[in-house]
Amino acid sequence: MKLILIGFGVVGQGFAKILLEKGDDLGARHDFSAQIVGVVTASKGQLYHPDGLDIAHLLRTAETGSFADYPESELLQRDWDANDMILRGSADVLLEASPTNLQTAQPALATCHLALDQGLHIVLANKGPVALDYGGLRAKADARGLHMRYEATVMAGTPTMHLAQDALAGCAIRSARGILNGTTNYILTQMESGMTYAEALAQAQALGYAETDPTADVEGWDAAGKVLILANALFGSSLTMRDLDVRGITDISPEDIDQARQSSLRYKLIAEATPVGGMVSPQRLPVSDPLASVGGSTNAITLDTDLLGEITLIGAGAGKLETGYALLSDLMAIQRET
Ligand code: HSE
Repeated sequence: MKLILIGFGVVGQGFAKILLEKGDDLGARHDFSAQIVGVVTASKGQLYHPDGLDIAHLLRTAETGSFADYPESELLQRDWDANDMILRGSADVLLEASPTNLQTAQPALATCHLALDQGLHIVLANKGPVALDYGGLRAKADARGLHMRYEATVMAGTPTMHLAQDALAGCAIRSARGILNGTTNYILTQMESGMTYAEALAQAQALGYAETDPTADVEGWDAAGKVLILANALFGSSLTMRDLDVRGITDISPEDIDQARQSSLRYKLIAEATPVGGMVSPQRLPVSDPLASVGGSTNAITLDTDLLGEITLIGAGAGKLETGYALLSDLMAIQRET
């Protein structure tokens, strides 16, 4: 599989590291092999080579913050943007892992449409296009017999979409409810141990959990984007942000957390999607509630199904390898299905 990777931040680097370290094993055990032929970033530059880029070099140059040190070679292109790579290059899959924009989804949305127009499968870690134009992308992918996968957009590589769409394909899912933002769960957990909000947020950023602009995390918009993705993908609804009630954690003070603790309660940012709506809001849960014990950047989701009742999945909600893995699992699914 030849891949064009848009964005080389936490997620893109995590994915590249997994390919570097597990590539041989994936080939031997699953007959899976992938080459990154192009990388496009806003800050580090662009690289394209039709025979595949050297991942070890890519990861090293990312540490310096620029692709300038990537060795020159014949056929290496440094001035192709995403459109050039899609239109003039040779690739099978576009991986969209650039920073999420939940207002317009651009420029990622246009890039995804162009990729589908040109016959590339798309795999997204970027939540914007899936939250804001699921229907448009899905219709185009289906019409052209292409795959569109987006495991990374909800609960990182924890197989939420695989569970809901593949393993539970014969069930009707009535609702999805859980903790869907790693950054805020990390902050709330650390504040319970006495850390300040600012320190906890700084740690979440350093650990690669937070969005490029962490306002999206702490004000609830990142979780709301995930609610839209779940509503679109599981219920076929066409909700928009305006249809959701969204509150984040910025109003919760250390005193609130302390008071809750004295009453054996814990604050959690709960997100819910149903066929008719959705919401994100901080809730005080009894410590006996299973969601109350989900700490740090871990996420959890409970799917209420018609045939199996409730199924709860708990796992990584953010992080470099954790989210990079989601891209790999989507690519392996595409390989199995094509
Ligand atoms: N900023 C997101 C979070 C990353 O904290 O959950 C994973 O979507």
